[in-house]
Amino acid sequence: MPEIAIIGGTGVYDPSILTDIHDDSITTPFGEVSFKTGIYNGVEVAFIPRHGSHHSIPPHKINYRANIWAIKKIGVKKIFATTAVGSLNPSMKPGDFVLIDQFLDFTKSRITTFFEGKDGKVVHADVSEPYCPHLRQVLKKAAGELGITAHMGGTYVCTEGPRFETPAEIKMYARFGGDLVGMTNVPEVTLAHEAEMCYATVSMVTNQAAGISQTPLTHAEVVATMEKNGANIKNLIMKSIELLTSVKEECHCASTIAEFGGFNI
Ligand code: HPA
Repeated sequence: MPEIAIIGGTGVYDPSILTDIHDDSITTPFGEVSFKTGIYNGVEVAFIPRHGSHHSIPPHKINYRANIWAIKKIGVKKIFATTAVGSLNPSMKPGDFVLIDQFLDFTKSRITTFFEGKDGKVVHADVSEPYCPHLRQVLKKAAGELGITAHMGGTYVCTEGPRFETPAEIKMYARFGGDLVGMTNVPEVTLAHEAEMCYATVSMVTNQAAGISQTPLTHAEVVATMEKNGANIKNLIMKSIELLTSVKEECHCASTIAEFGGFNI
């Protein structure tokens, strides 16, 4: 049973770094989820391309609950996610990696919890530390060993999409303290939190945000930058898997909702 999962965002569709790859699927209360499992360095890893293997699922239609429930059920405890982002922060430039530590949620139509009051169960999860501090330290160490520059912290603004933002929205997000903008990290992060799993995201800056960029944004630009840096993002995650046990594990992710009886759905 894999204890580690990679959720690949835009441009990260290819699990070929793994060996002995198998297609698998699981039926969840929220629908069917297909994923792959394989071996890296003797460790079993599950891989889900968030947008489907051909980027056919738009951000607001991703079945976030099914994905997280599925990997929880197969035994995953730690998730490395990737996201492509636009940058609002002049120090975070296209091609840079950011190990985000906070988010601002501007999504509109997504169900952001597993607990909708069924059987009287309501859960208010603490998200003071939305991204696992242990996995973030591991990613930082891996980046250092590989000579990859990664910003240690940043606030991710999650928009509903699928359109890009207006320059006025970007100005507002910047005033609110946002550094990066993307369309998929919420509710993935909060659901992983409710499911009491360690979750960290490597955000890759693919473009300057609307209005900061002098040219109109295109999806092709986003994909091209991701592909250019695809090897680095893969190396970073794989190195992190190697280093997982070399950094002292200090996090409370596995007991996030203990107050509510834990994740037992
Ligand atoms: N906005 C929203 N999502 C994105 C962007 C952006 O500029 N770049 C990559 N994903």
